[in-house]
Amino acid sequence: MKFIECKNLKAKPETVTSFGKLFTDYMYVREYADGAWQEGCIMPFDALELLPCASVLHYGQAVFEGLKAYRNACGEVRLFRARDNFERMQTSCARLCIPPVDTEEAYSALVKLVKLEREWIPTERGTSLYIRPFVFAADDSLGVHAAKKYKFIIILSPSGAYYSHGFAPVALKVEREYVRAGRGGTGAYKVIGNYAASIKAGEEAAALGYDQVLWLDGQSRRYVEEVGSMNIFFVLDGKVITPELNGTILPGITRDSVIKLLKSKGIPVEERRIDIKEIIDGAKSGALTEAFGSGTAAVISPVDRLGDDGRDYVIGKVGAVGKIAQMLFDELPAIQTGKIPDPFSWVNKIV
Ligand code: COI
Repeated sequence: MKFIECKNLKAKPETVTSFGKLFTDYMYVREYADGAWQEGCIMPFDALELLPCASVLHYGQAVFEGLKAYRNACGEVRLFRARDNFERMQTSCARLCIPPVDTEEAYSALVKLVKLEREWIPTERGTSLYIRPFVFAADDSLGVHAAKKYKFIIILSPSGAYYSHGFAPVALKVEREYVRAGRGGTGAYKVIGNYAASIKAGEEAAALGYDQVLWLDGQSRRYVEEVGSMNIFFVLDGKVITPELNGTILPGITRDSVIKLLKSKGIPVEERRIDIKEIIDGAKSGALTEAFGSGTAAVISPVDRLGDDGRDYVIGKVGAVGKIAQMLFDELPAIQTGKIPDPFSWVNKIV
């Protein structure tokens, strides 16, 4: 791997509270040209050179991932399920006709980059190094077809909580007008267009005082899908339920970790179709005792309010965190940071 030294290292912050706003000194860049991925390079984090005709700017042929590295007070550095992210990136690449990046090659590039930048990883509770790998089409032409040139880049952002209010519960608006994904579309892949298409709904929800939207399926507009930046779980009639992966929902790695962690504690999780009516009725009757989202950026995010059709439904008590969300919020980060053992072999200690 090539290396270009950064001549002007930035000052590292003493504490980090923002998400995705600060970036480290270096990034990893690898180009695809002449039918193959070329040798990668760790180089200074800087602006990219891109012609205005670059195909990604016009047709959005691009995918991304989000994962995290953690550092403890002794200086040990851990990655959480990094290979699973690169495996998922391959499925996203395949969906958009992007030549896949080999998982082991991507993983070893990431390890080198994170080791180099380990002093940037914050250590306070709730902070981490957010890692953003992405791949985009870099052809200089306006034809709509699979590009012949791509760039695979990894950037690193020392970050705090995704939501500005941290682990405090969030409010979701049930989205009845817009849809996030349709059958045969790209909902199950981490492609950039999914996120662009969600912004309008998110802005409208924010203007009404909600943090995010709860998406329903695009066909019947009845079944709960996900939140866009996280998957969703409910505790209804004492059972943990989450929408089944039906081809339009992102197969979240944190979602999978939550299911496995709960099952290991003897708490079954039903993955099934969930009618929004069950959820609203459950909120009205009190049978819905908890709701929470799961995601790399969001970690575990309790939900205490659902807005639908101009009415608000409280889940549990306003501002209160349910027992299951609290347990997950305590245990998952404890596994990620190495505070408690990792019986699932999810964590790779790299320093
Ligand atoms: C993540 O959780 O890492 C995501 O990619 C969600 C969001 C920040 C887009």
